[in-house]
Amino acid sequence: MPIVNSVAERMISEVLTKPDVVLEQTLRPSLFSEFAGQPKVKERLDIAVQAAKQRGEPLDHILLNGPPGLGKTTIANILAKAMGANLKSTSGPTIEKAGDLAGLLTNLEEGDVLFIDEIHRMQKTIEEYLYPAMEDFKLDIIIDQGPNARSIRLNLPRFTLMGATTRSGLLSAPLLTRFPIRERVDYYQVSDLQIILIRSARLLNIEIDEIGAHEIARRSRGTPRIANNLLRRVRDYAQVRSDGRITRETADAALAMLEIDQNGLDEMDKRILEAVILKFGGGPVGLGSLAVAVGEESDTLEEVYEPYLIMEGYLRRTPQGRVATELSHKKLGLTVAKDSQPNLI
Ligand SMILES: Nc1ncnc2c1ncn2[C@@H]1O[C@H](COP(=O)(O)OP(=O)(O)OP(=O)(O)O)[C@@H](O)[C@H]1O
Ligand SMILES: [Mg+2]
Repeated sequence: MPIVNSVAERMISEVLTKPDVVLEQTLRPSLFSEFAGQPKVKERLDIAVQAAKQRGEPLDHILLNGPPGLGKTTIANILAKAMGANLKSTSGPTIEKAGDLAGLLTNLEEGDVLFIDEIHRMQKTIEEYLYPAMEDFKLDIIIDQGPNARSIRLNLPRFTLMGATTRSGLLSAPLLTRFPIRERVDYYQVSDLQIILIRSARLLNIEIDEIGAHEIARRSRGTPRIANNLLRRVRDYAQVRSDGRITRETADAALAMLEIDQNGLDEMDKRILEAVILKFGGGPVGLGSLAVAVGEESDTLEEVYEPYLIMEGYLRRTPQGRVATELSHKKLGLTVAKDSQPNLI
């Protein structure tokens, strides 16, 4: 079966060109002191780091969960750096054979961090090799074939596994429970995104005032990656149409040009809400039918678009399917009719 790249990966490779990737790394904070928001997550992880360092032990295995662009990879890097550990990075879909995983594990040194991005996409048969590796730092490998086949047990150095996933619900229970530390990163407050934008603007030599940063922040879907991307689009606009400085006016005009509305919803968000209301009578509608109606993959809908629409109260997820709320009717200028068929105002 071909291994499907993760949505997050596809998003990165489609949306971000090479200079973008370099830029993401430039903007990526390397210390918790530069990492805005997520105060509880930061505090808990910081304590885990300090305690492990005091005991002279590697950090416990950590699972980071949350929608794309919220800082999971960034946190993994910060933690490795804080521990003074090497970080070796891979991703679930790229580990194709058990041998690939064995190679990664046996090449680790004491205290190293193995970061597995999109860990929910790892094949189950390979995943099973991780269980003894995580629990007892042992690796069972089978050598030879047929009647001579035998299993040998290798000792591994004590390492830290950091897993990142946009879908922790897809992780099997045995894997999930082998992570003593599990943290969820959530959408950011506007004030935190504003801080992130002001920092990024400083690093990129962009002149921005606080209100301009606030305007971009509140239309960034609670996501630092989107905030940083919008910052550069707004900068382009300010440079060409104005004096290069980002103010509320330039931010507003640029975001309007990009068709990002006052609540940060983009074209796709609106297309989804419109489909639920106009094509499916407000729902409930199953994910698959909705995906076909808007011409998007169901994974992308579920991982990228839906969580924000649900959090903001535009959509509800019910056992029967997705349902549009009154707020989404209002957003599109529609009324909820008594028979639940919406009418144009
Ligand atoms: N708390 C933060 N403070 C400052 N910048 C941040 C923060 N979180 C994320 N960023 C910025 O957002 C970008 C995306 O973050 P990151 O790559 O860590 O997200 P991710 O959760 O790993 O996403 P994906 O699921 O797509 O892999 C980073 O380059 C970084 O610049
Ligand atoms: Mg990542």
